[in-house]
Amino acid sequence: MKKIAVVGAGTMGNGIAHVFAQKGFAVNLIDSNASALEKAINTIDKNLDRQVNKGTINAEDKVIALQQITTFTSIEIGVSDVDLVIEAATENSEIKKSIFKQIDSFAKPECILATNTSSISITQLAAVTARPSKVIGMHFMNPVPVMKLVEIINGKETSETTSNTIVELTNQLGKIPCVVQDAPGFIANRILMPMINEAIHAFSEGISDAATIDQIMKLGMAHPMGPLQLADYIGLDVCKNILDIMHNGFKNDKYAPCPLLIKMVEAGKLGVKTGEGFYKY
Ligand SMILES: NC(=O)c1ccc[n+]([C@@H]2O[C@H](COP(=O)([O-])OP(=O)(O)OC[C@H]3O[C@@H](n4cnc5c(N)ncnc54)[C@H](O)[C@@H]3O)[C@@H](O)[C@H]2O)c1
Repeated sequence: MKKIAVVGAGTMGNGIAHVFAQKGFAVNLIDSNASALEKAINTIDKNLDRQVNKGTINAEDKVIALQQITTFTSIEIGVSDVDLVIEAATENSEIKKSIFKQIDSFAKPECILATNTSSISITQLAAVTARPSKVIGMHFMNPVPVMKLVEIINGKETSETTSNTIVELTNQLGKIPCVVQDAPGFIANRILMPMINEAIHAFSEGISDAATIDQIMKLGMAHPMGPLQLADYIGLDVCKNILDIMHNGFKNDKYAPCPLLIKMVEAGKLGVKTGEGFYKY
């Protein structure tokens, strides 16, 4: 693989583009919103600066990495000549299905279609394409340039060749692949989100304040970040969407989002990205 496309240039899309560009891949970064593309390039620029300041890359590496990235607002043009597309658009199954249909009709037949979804069924996304054996989950963690894990999710029809190719590619990026089967929330969020939801319940019942809840989990369980702060970083809207998908997928009320989480999302308090969640930023 030499050239890839990333669809969706938000929090995750810019990180994925950054990592591939730094490893020498040509990257077409696509978003329907031109200002999201501009913001993504600025973020990548700043994050590369941080690496230069730390001494992990030099100034020339930064220039080369930025030159690898081309931005597009059209999926049709952006995916036409690539070997792999990674979809990292909004966590909504209708949006993703519509994007997958478009990618499938414009990408080369041999192109692998991956999604960075946190919880949506890979099998269902694959079903809207004419190449389900070449559809796979490639779930990067936030912040992408820092986090080592990539959770690889095989859909029902994903071929062994596709899975092996993506495992090998993940290793090539200097990341660690962990392969799982398709189920709501996969493994990472199936275990993480109920913990975050429980922390929100405890907070809303007044059992303790946010900082104390986080401190207990940091000191007691050696978590690097408490669940409420982590929720702010992930985005409370993203957390709610994932819980909704697990709630509907498993038909089990234990995954129902806490009423306080729903209220905060309705109020536009989404965490770091809006300046306020459980903490102010
Ligand atoms: N935020 C996290 O910590 C995290 C971690 C792992 C995985 N994910 C997953 O990554 C994906 C992206 O999440 P995010 O946090 O980066 O979201 P985000 O809201 O920051 O970015 C989504 C981007 O998708 C773009 N978009 C929406 N519809 C589009 C379309 N039809 N065509 C092209 N672009 C479109 C939006 O303009 C936006 O820029 C989601 O599936 C999410 O579940 C998020």
